[in-house]
Amino acid sequence: MKPKALVTHELLPDALDFLAEHVDFEIGTKEVLLPKPLLLQKIRDKEGLLALLTVDIDRDVMEAAPRLKIIANCAVGTDNIDLEHARKKNILVTNTPGVLTETTADLTWALILAVARRIPQADRFLRNGNYKGWKVDLCLGREMTGKRLGIIGLGRIGKAVAERAKGFKMDIVYYDRRRLSAEEEKALGVKSLPLDELLRTSDIVSIHASMTEGSYHLLSREKLDLMKREALLINVARGPIVDEQALADVLENGRLWGAGLDVYEREPAVEDRLLRMDNVVLLPHIGSATYETRLKMAMMAATNLVIALKGEKPPNLVI
Ligand code: GLV
Repeated sequence: MKPKALVTHELLPDALDFLAEHVDFEIGTKEVLLPKPLLLQKIRDKEGLLALLTVDIDRDVMEAAPRLKIIANCAVGTDNIDLEHARKKNILVTNTPGVLTETTADLTWALILAVARRIPQADRFLRNGNYKGWKVDLCLGREMTGKRLGIIGLGRIGKAVAERAKGFKMDIVYYDRRRLSAEEEKALGVKSLPLDELLRTSDIVSIHASMTEGSYHLLSREKLDLMKREALLINVARGPIVDEQALADVLENGRLWGAGLDVYEREPAVEDRLLRMDNVVLLPHIGSATYETRLKMAMMAATNLVIALKGEKPPNLVI
């Protein structure tokens, strides 16, 4: 008999076909959000859970599933899972590292350029019938070449963002609790700075840290106030790393030139004031959203699930 698993949402068809060969699975919901009571009900008799990052897997979920052996998250971040409780219950947790690095770095650069060159605003301007001819001061943006890029969190994605910045001849600085070796810094062309100095001196600040207790509101009001008036803030990591209210205040007061966000403090909700600002580019958490990458993520999560349910060690073990 195949082991029973809950797959919280529909995945791309190839991943579902693969799962069907190895596990007896049920899909949690065809909607965007899986209500908690439904999750608690469906998880009861399952040994495996494959979840999207939008599903909060807290102790209630684990307590409701006495047979649960593995939570395979279809994301690189695992901040939606109570890891402490999973460890206590001997439930394995896996993620999908590596496969979304380049895609997310690409989106970071798409956001940097979209904010700097006012791409969505220019598109709206034209569609609204306002384009009457070339003008010297039409949709003026900011030059990126040669500027200072401050990367907060120099993990896989942060490094891939730095690689791309070389093409823009940028001065690349970073802040990370774990410092690279001098050789690694040299090879990547980056320099470590204390957070405050990075914020005070960077033209673009791009966040690539993971969500932990230590990174909650790392960009507090106080820290945002350190940034240059003409700087850009980019966040493709996790919303709660930035105090969203404080960011809206700072932008409203003209204390920052612009921001590009792919993640929010209370997704899918977005601070109302940000929605009304023209110097902010807002995306619906699509950092890894290419067909190729989302398929790789789903296949990786499915493989982790299947291997763990065979009683073997899955490749992308977090705990
Ligand atoms: C996306 O945000 C991920 O963590 O994979």
